[in-house]
Amino acid sequence: MELPQMPELMGLSLLLGLLALMATAAVARGWLRAEEEISSRSAGQKANGFPLDKSSKSKKQKQQQRIRKEKPQQHNFTHRLLAAALKSHSGNISCMDFSSNGKYLATCADDRTVRIWSTKDFPQREHRSMRANVELDHATLVRFSPDCRAFLVWLANGETLRVFKMSKREDGGYTFTATPEDFPKKHKAPVINIGIADTGKFIMTASSDTIILIWNLKGQVLSTINTNQMNNTHAAISPCSRFVASCGFTPDVKVWEVCFGKKGEFQEVVRAFELKGHSAAVHFFAFSNDSRRMASVSKDGTWKLWDTDVEYKKQQDPYLLRTGRFEEASSMLCRLALSPDAQVLALASGSSIHLYNTRRGEKEECFEQVHGEYITDLSFDITGRLLASCGDRAVRLFHNTPGHRAVVEEMQGLLKRASNESTRQRLQQQLTQAQEALKSLGALKK
Ligand SMILES: *[C@@H]1O[C@H](CO)[C@@H](O)[C@H](O)[C@H]1NC(C)=O
Ligand SMILES: *[C@@H]1O[C@H](CO)[C@@H](O)[C@H](O)[C@H]1NC(C)=O
Ligand SMILES: *[C@@H]1O[C@H](CO)[C@@H](O)[C@H](O)[C@H]1NC(C)=O
Ligand SMILES: *[C@@H]1O[C@H](CO)[C@@H](O)[C@H](O)[C@H]1NC(C)=O
Ligand SMILES: *[C@@H]1O[C@H](CO)[C@@H](O)[C@H](O)[C@H]1NC(C)=O
Repeated sequence: MELPQMPELMGLSLLLGLLALMATAAVARGWLRAEEEISSRSAGQKANGFPLDKSSKSKKQKQQQRIRKEKPQQHNFTHRLLAAALKSHSGNISCMDFSSNGKYLATCADDRTVRIWSTKDFPQREHRSMRANVELDHATLVRFSPDCRAFLVWLANGETLRVFKMSKREDGGYTFTATPEDFPKKHKAPVINIGIADTGKFIMTASSDTIILIWNLKGQVLSTINTNQMNNTHAAISPCSRFVASCGFTPDVKVWEVCFGKKGEFQEVVRAFELKGHSAAVHFFAFSNDSRRMASVSKDGTWKLWDTDVEYKKQQDPYLLRTGRFEEASSMLCRLALSPDAQVLALASGSSIHLYNTRRGEKEECFEQVHGEYITDLSFDITGRLLASCGDRAVRLFHNTPGHRAVVEEMQGLLKRASNESTRQRLQQQLTQAQEALKSLGALKK
């Protein structure tokens, strides 16, 4: 990132200042209060790769009885690589987001709540979540602000963006406060994704017609992009905050640069590059965490991995690194997630998930009927050690064994070429860690 630091900070403090002002008003209107709730593992389910905490059993059973009384049966799913199941929502979960500091996972569902989970709890038997109510509406999409002190939601009925501020209470919990003014209503078709740039400089909303809007944090539209892709199926901001990309009915993924001046003022949105190579509509795409790789999945029945670390201003095109078959994509809508290091590709179709390594394009794991409904979101955590999926009322978290195997292979290769002892020791340490993780999951040989 070569963008100057100051304007970013100014942008953020502007948001925070704005939010602080609005907080008082919203509290007065008696809006939102966080409630801490506990979700526990289902009775027969074994903790995988994590120690079981036996002390909380009776409490857990009481909890279970309460849940059974109140809610219909959950979909049952067990797998040796299942790390945790987060169960507190009483409606279908449509979207998830990990905070950039790695501490939280936000989920939203049609039960009119957003829940904030502590990732620290994932290895435990019980999973606490804090609840924010979305009054008279529900959120279909949720995203943390870069400073992890606010989150944005897309309102299903309001058809607009609402910002919630998270303020820490004395008892350690959070109070969630909606800003009194939602963003103005601008989209004419259903919104399929929202995002906030990691620099805090802009917000993106994309609808299923051909429109992507770029907003400032005050809710003013900076730019309108017409993707000319008949219908958008996905759009997202790159982790480096420089680009916005979209896919749709046409066989290409289009990428734009959102340009700011030296003082942080918005300038323009310009065409940057395209991913060209699919022969049918593209269902979905994703970036690696350094924005140097992208992956895409298409109705042509393939997925592709791209090197996007190019100087598009010098007319360099992205390189196609690998193509793999994924037949399901030719007849069903698919989603994908790319691990932060781009070593593992997760593909979801229906309620199943398939994990491929990107070095050779081999399928390494397959999880069938993970949810009682179609999978609505799929995401690796920021460490890349866990993959999360949702669709019904639960979030399921999987150990990313292909990711550990990729580290083993990479370190073995690097060790052969290591020229001095200190490098060798560092590589050996990473190798041992990955091997031990695989061993504890019973997945060392594959
Ligand atoms: C899940 O399993 C429990 C007990 O093993 C059973 O009572 C329940 O009916 C199952 N639920 C579904 C949706 O299959
Ligand atoms: C979840 O969504 C499915 C359809 O996708 C619907 O049939 C079901 O009733 C929903 N469940 C809840 C609890 O809203
Ligand atoms: C495709 O876009 C048109 C407008 O361009 C919109 O009316 C229609 O609902 C969109 N289709 C889907 C499936 O979202
Ligand atoms: C990407 O994720 C890896 C962990 O898989 C981490 O080591 C690295 O620092 C991250 N890079 C960026 C640019 O966030
Ligand atoms: C060891 O080798 C690495 C490259 O393999 C190099 O970057 C590093 O500076 C070397 N360290 C010493 C102490 O020579």
